[in-house]
Order: sequence, then C-alpha cells, then structure tokens
Amino acid sequence: MGFCLPGYKTLRRGKYVLLLFVSLSVLAWIATFSGEIVKSAQIFSASPQTLVQADSLRDQLNTETAAPNQIETPTPKAECPKESPLLQGAVKLSFESSLTLKDVESKNKGVTDGEYEPSDCTASQSVAVLIPHRSRERHLLYLLNHLHPFLQRQQLHYAIYVIQQAGDATFNRAKLLNVGYLEALKDYSWECFVFHDVDLVPENDHNLYVCDNQPKHLVVGRNATGYKLRYKGYFGGVTAMTKDQFLQVNGFSNTYWGWGGEDDDLRIRVELQKMKIVRPPADVARYTMVFHKRDSGNEINKDRMRLLGQTPLVWKKDGLNSCTYKTMLLERQPLYVNVTVDIGKP
Ligand code: BGC
Repeated sequence: MGFCLPGYKTLRRGKYVLLLFVSLSVLAWIATFSGEIVKSAQIFSASPQTLVQADSLRDQLNTETAAPNQIETPTPKAECPKESPLLQGAVKLSFESSLTLKDVESKNKGVTDGEYEPSDCTASQSVAVLIPHRSRERHLLYLLNHLHPFLQRQQLHYAIYVIQQAGDATFNRAKLLNVGYLEALKDYSWECFVFHDVDLVPENDHNLYVCDNQPKHLVVGRNATGYKLRYKGYFGGVTAMTKDQFLQVNGFSNTYWGWGGEDDDLRIRVELQKMKIVRPPADVARYTMVFHKRDSGNEINKDRMRLLGQTPLVWKKDGLNSCTYKTMLLERQPLYVNVTVDIGKP
C-alpha cells in the first residue's frame, strides 16, 4: 500500500523535471562561459595583421622617443664666398692713447685663445699670424685692435701667436719666427703663415692674409716711405708663405742677431728654390707704421752683408732644422697665444 499511490508518481515525475531543468541550466551556463573564453582568446591572440600594426606603432614610438637622444651629425657649412661680403676697403686707422686690452677683448668676443673661425661658412684657408715681440706692448695693442676685425672681415680661420724673446740678449726676429712656426704647428696644421712686424698696421682689408702658390710679400708701401716699395727685392715687414713653402726653404736663418738682413736672407732662400715673390696691387698693400725709436737690444746688425753672402752655402743646415730654444711660457690669452722663449744669444 502506500508506495503505489497516484500522488507518489506525480512527485517522481516532478523530480525528473527538476533534474532536467538543473542540467539544462548548467549546460547553458557552460555554453555562455566558454563563449566568453573564446571572445577573450580572440582579443589576446592577435592576427598577423594586428602584429604588423603593433610593430609599426612600436617603431614609430621608438623613433619619436629616440630622436632627441641621437647624436646629430652637423650639416657641413658651405664654403665662404670667394670675395668676403664684409670687406670695407681702405679703413681709417685710430691709435687712441686711452685704448686698453680689455677694450679690444670686448670688441672681439668671437675670438677664443687668439683663434677665430667664421660661424656661418668654411674659411678658404687656416692662417697662423706670427708676431715677434719684445717690450712693444703699445704697438702690439694697436696691431691687435686692427688685425682681429680685419681678419674677421676676410672670413678666415686664423690664430695670432706672439713670440716673445725672453732675457735681454740682442733681438733675433728670424729665429723667433722659426719658433712661432714650430710651436703653432703643435696646435693645428696651419696651411698658411703670415710673418708680421708688430709696428705695421694694414690699411686696406682687400690685402688678403692668405697664401698663394708663390711666397707673398704684403707690404708694397707704408706711410713712412711714401707708400713706395723700398727696393726691388724687399721682402720684409709682412710676408705670407704656406707651410710647405716655408719648410722647403728651411725657414729663416737663426744667425741674424740685431736689426736687418734676415728678410733679405729669406728672399735668397726663396730664389734658390726657383720660387717667385708675388705682391698684391700697390693700392691695397698699404701699411701705417706706428712710430718708434730704435729699440735698445736691436742694434743694426753690421755682420749682415757677410752673412748674406753665405746663404747659398748654409741654408740647408741653418734654419728650421737647427732651431734650438727653450719655451719658458705658453699662455693662451683671449686675443693671442703668448709664447715666451729663450733662444740663446749671439
Ligand atoms: C735690411 C732689411 C730691411 C731693409 C728695409 C735692408 O738694408 O737688410 O732687413 O728690411 O733694409 O729697411
């Protein structure tokens, strides 16, 4: 009895229905959940196209972030024009007694350690200007005052070296210039050298301080001599020779102590090498000589004619290759390199 009641049958069918419902719900939930997983998998597993896009995005980001850190290769400067647009021609020279080195420094801010190079173009030549010196501070100041702007207007890469003779032995201009050449070449491979007296100031910036394919004499005339060449073979005051031309003649003789003869000796050396002296036109190769009395310690060299007679015999062993000296001080001042040197005595 009891177990076969019609109410019990209904109850059992209801249990199956419930079980079916629960199973279906579980199946439905599993289906939904697996759908989510598939969707997520689609998001994270990128297609090849998505990879390419990601790569290019990464590259783009890398370039954007790396660019500021990359070392920029400077764009090469163009050559300076054949004729500098800054030239002024004949300029009025002034020799103010109140002028100071500080004044000249403040007018030449582009010059560092005596050296300058144009910022906007590449100079046609690199030129070392060598000035032999002893106790002529005022002359040096006037020369620096005019020479720096003059050379800058010519758009040159240049440096000024002042070679001071230490001690009070007789002055030797030529040996100081040999020292200047040798010392300047330790700084830079200058292709052109200008050998410059301290008391000569150029009047016209068309008188270019560049070297030619022949040795160049820049002082055709000076105020003190009516702007006339002193004599046919005159090769003194200011001259320009390339590094190689000067080496070829073995530089100056070291044996001229006192005033005179060393420039004539250089001319003989040049002529022995079959080189020919060239000069700029007389109307531009003009100088003002700052007046001075003959220095003590630079008396006329009475031996100079005898020495000149020997030049063809001795030039090969008397010159750059026999120039001995002791550098006492090498000081880079704002407007020039000062080389103070012991060159011995006669
Ligand atoms: C001297 C030179 C000097 C020239 C001009 C000559 O007698 O030997 O050294 O440059 O005169 O003054």
